[in-house]
Amino acid sequence: MNDRFAAIAAGARERRDASRSSGRPRIALCLDTSSRARGGEATLAALREAVAARGLDVEIATTGSWGFCWLEPTVSVRSAAGSRTVLYHSLTPDRVEEFLRAVIVEAGEFPELALGVVEGPATDRIGLLRDHPFMRGQVRRLMANCGRIDPASIDDALANRAYEGFVTALDMEPAAIIELMLESGLGGRGGGGFPAGRKWDFLRNATADPRYLVCNADEGDPGAWVNRILMEGDPHLIVEGMLIAALATHAVEGYVYIRHEYPLAIERMNEAVRQARERGLLGEDILGSGKTFDLVVFTGAGSYVCGEETGLINSIDGYRGMPRIRPPFPAQAGLWNLPTNVNNVETYANAPLILREGAAWWSSVSDDDAKGTKMFTFSGAVNQSGCVEIPFGLSVRELLERYGGGVPGGVPLKGYQPGGPLSGILPAAEADLPLTLAPFRERGMFLGSGGIVFFDETASVVDLCTYFLGFAEDESCGRCTTCFQGTQRAVEILRRIASGGGRETDLDKLGDLIQTMIWSNCLHGQFAPTTVKLALREFRSEFETLIREKRDPTRSLPGMIAYEITNPTAPALAGAAAVCPTAAIVADGAGHAIVDELCIRCDACREVAPEAIAIRDRFA
Ligand SMILES: Cc1cc2nc3c(=O)[nH]c(=O)nc-3n(C[C@H](O)[C@H](O)[C@H](O)COP(=O)(O)O)c2cc1C
Repeated sequence: MNDRFAAIAAGARERRDASRSSGRPRIALCLDTSSRARGGEATLAALREAVAARGLDVEIATTGSWGFCWLEPTVSVRSAAGSRTVLYHSLTPDRVEEFLRAVIVEAGEFPELALGVVEGPATDRIGLLRDHPFMRGQVRRLMANCGRIDPASIDDALANRAYEGFVTALDMEPAAIIELMLESGLGGRGGGGFPAGRKWDFLRNATADPRYLVCNADEGDPGAWVNRILMEGDPHLIVEGMLIAALATHAVEGYVYIRHEYPLAIERMNEAVRQARERGLLGEDILGSGKTFDLVVFTGAGSYVCGEETGLINSIDGYRGMPRIRPPFPAQAGLWNLPTNVNNVETYANAPLILREGAAWWSSVSDDDAKGTKMFTFSGAVNQSGCVEIPFGLSVRELLERYGGGVPGGVPLKGYQPGGPLSGILPAAEADLPLTLAPFRERGMFLGSGGIVFFDETASVVDLCTYFLGFAEDESCGRCTTCFQGTQRAVEILRRIASGGGRETDLDKLGDLIQTMIWSNCLHGQFAPTTVKLALREFRSEFETLIREKRDPTRSLPGMIAYEITNPTAPALAGAAAVCPTAAIVADGAGHAIVDELCIRCDACREVAPEAIAIRDRFA
């Protein structure tokens, strides 16, 4: 063990132990982006105010996410004795007073909001957190510290084994590190699954210097936020992963590329880099080893194609964010045209675990071809939107039922999108597929970086296609006509079908576009029509019904429906007229009528007067 590191880590553990034995209870509120969106900052302010007003001697800290995103703000409370910690959920400012009275003043519990006991024995009223249905089956390795440590404190990270993997790697030859990575079977987590060890070996064998590392934290897929959870919850894991990659590849500088829509992740990564530098874990002569490596946190402008590795490199280089033609690949000519390795956040984050615990331990968790654990986020038609870390191989349906809490309102599942807007959609009949790479590849799509979006029977597949193709059109870099015009034409056709103007020839035209767009310069254009391709294969009748019968079975497409008043004298219609944003509901004799030309199908009126207003097929 490196002596300097041993001293740094021992100091961190001493400070942690001193805090535990101080006799002060500790309240740690999750303050990640999901918690902020659900009022976490107001709860934190209320906690601080109430603690000060009551003169309580309590340590208040913040953490990253446990993954219970739909139940934020979550709060853990460590007892004064330091031996017992309980996690609570949904702590709103108005409940802070009674909460503090129960858990601090009376040193008791607040079972109503309890999720489980993190540390210490279960009680009659609160079970162990690990037995909570949401935690069962999860194998938390990457997320081991998420929710537990203060992401802004390197001491917290060090006291929980941060940088131990890096220190192990310091004593190894680059080739041995790569051998270990290959032995583990770690595949890239950004969607492609390419073996990380092989990529590192390309850079190790590069002939030019200096060479660079890039961490792809662009995470542009709508519905994916696994990288954010890690950056906001345990940023040092990523710094450490990049340090290990640097040792293996002789890289001297690294960039963490984060889109600007992730301000908290940017802040936490910057702080982690600053603290690591301060402790001698980044910069020159790291821990006295003579090795040099430093990190820059780079803010992207939020363009989706800048998640594509060569677009990302262009963006850091200061050019317009457009993917480059490959070859040359980044390992030959990347940043500043010098050898560069690009990996996803989660890929780098696995390296410390492999170095610390060994390849056999790391890969033993899964008997699937894909090794290790994978983080998934789930959203859309789910009761519980959150993030889990599980071994590869659980079925999509189990993910939905066990962790997502099923589809709201008992509406049947219609399908799901596994890998972001370029990946495509599958019907509910394919929900028994295991969450791993091969089955999706066989279907001409990919598992992607971990965001799974579910949709139910109320969703129109044509609408989904229009949305995803529209997204691809907006995000096309504009370099090749095939992509930017191809997506535009596809959106035009889809909009036409969705508004009742579809033609018999439209499906063939979409088929032609799918064939043509394969010839786009980069994967963005090549995969943009996958949603339509799979939708035409799996949900073709929905397109045909719209075109031939001019009828939308889901009655969700604004262009295919009209609103009609079924009970003109219903008193609730006055309220409906008041909320109508376009004044489409007008007085008509003793009652009310709808002016169809003014109606924008926003459905606000039916929320107020559901019994008096109905939806009908517009072309019936
Ligand atoms: C349009 C497009 C967007 C992408 N966005 C991301 C992204 O946000 N994050 C990511 O890690 N990879 C993204 N990728 C994949 C990257 O190009 C690259 O394969 C990945 O960063 C490699 O890391 P890995 O080997 O660790 O998976 C995207 C690819 C395309 C074509």
